[in-house]
Amino acid sequence: MKIFSKKKDLKDCLLRHRGGNKTVGFVPTMGALHSGHLSLIKEAKQKNDLVVVSLFVNPTQFDSAEDLKKYPKTIKNDIELLQSISCDILFTPSVEEIYENNISSENFDFDGLEHQMEGKFREGHFNGVGTVVKALFEIVAPHKAYFGQKDFQQLQIIKKMVKKHGLGVKVKGCPIFRQQDGLAMSSRNVRLSKEQKVAAPFVYKVLQEVREQFKTQNVLKITQWVESQFINHPYLRLEYFTIAEEKSLKPIETKDPYKKYRAFIAVFADEIRLIDNLQLENF
Ligand code: PAJ
Repeated sequence: MKIFSKKKDLKDCLLRHRGGNKTVGFVPTMGALHSGHLSLIKEAKQKNDLVVVSLFVNPTQFDSAEDLKKYPKTIKNDIELLQSISCDILFTPSVEEIYENNISSENFDFDGLEHQMEGKFREGHFNGVGTVVKALFEIVAPHKAYFGQKDFQQLQIIKKMVKKHGLGVKVKGCPIFRQQDGLAMSSRNVRLSKEQKVAAPFVYKVLQEVREQFKTQNVLKITQWVESQFINHPYLRLEYFTIAEEKSLKPIETKDPYKKYRAFIAVFADEIRLIDNLQLENF
């Protein structure tokens, strides 16, 4: 695996390969890699001649300095994992390499997608994500880029950005990779205490029950039930629960049989934020 930290070196290398008509798949990450990330990279490996993974903890997408500081960094382990699945190229730029002397976000209009859920609770988050992903797309110029449905809102926003800005990248959404107990894999999970680790899979259990209830119950009743599940929970605090239409991400009150819906949830275990979502069956 080749490792680059400078844009120019990465671009030169990709230029040499592109001459041979090779397709480039790209997986942007913030590191602290786990099986969820690896599932995206394996998919990219299967569908492309060359796979580039970026590892960059993007400061502009964090709404809390504390969260940014505490974001896990496990670069040595990340490199070993990437080598074990034969990743071709790793790009690990510094903050200066990406932002030069101006660590700020571009202001995007994602047609309202950015005002829902994560956008409501994490000020400026999607402007930060859009800024870094656009910059990385410009550097790597991939044919296809892979994102997890774990961050479903992010996935829809990236698709919107590519369309609106004509970025010419095919954006692929990949399924959520879960632990055996159902907890969605996340880099933040390593920060959970022993008790929190036992408690956290409850989030997915709630989503599964929501999926059942959605077949017969109305949205208000389901929402009240979810809220009641967390009121006296010793380890988990509910930040939001929303059932939304998949394309617009607008919360719904009534069901339309021709649309697709998803349940979205954000929960705190102390200051560690966990998010998850699940597609619902609309009948
Ligand atoms: P990060 O949280 O490192 O995630 C990188 C990619 O892995 C994202 O597309 C995310 O949705 C996906 N992913 C994370 N956990 C997953 C899981 N359990 N199953 C499947 N996919 C999973 O998301 C980001 O970084 C950043 O916002 C980034 C896009 C890199 C921009 O900075």
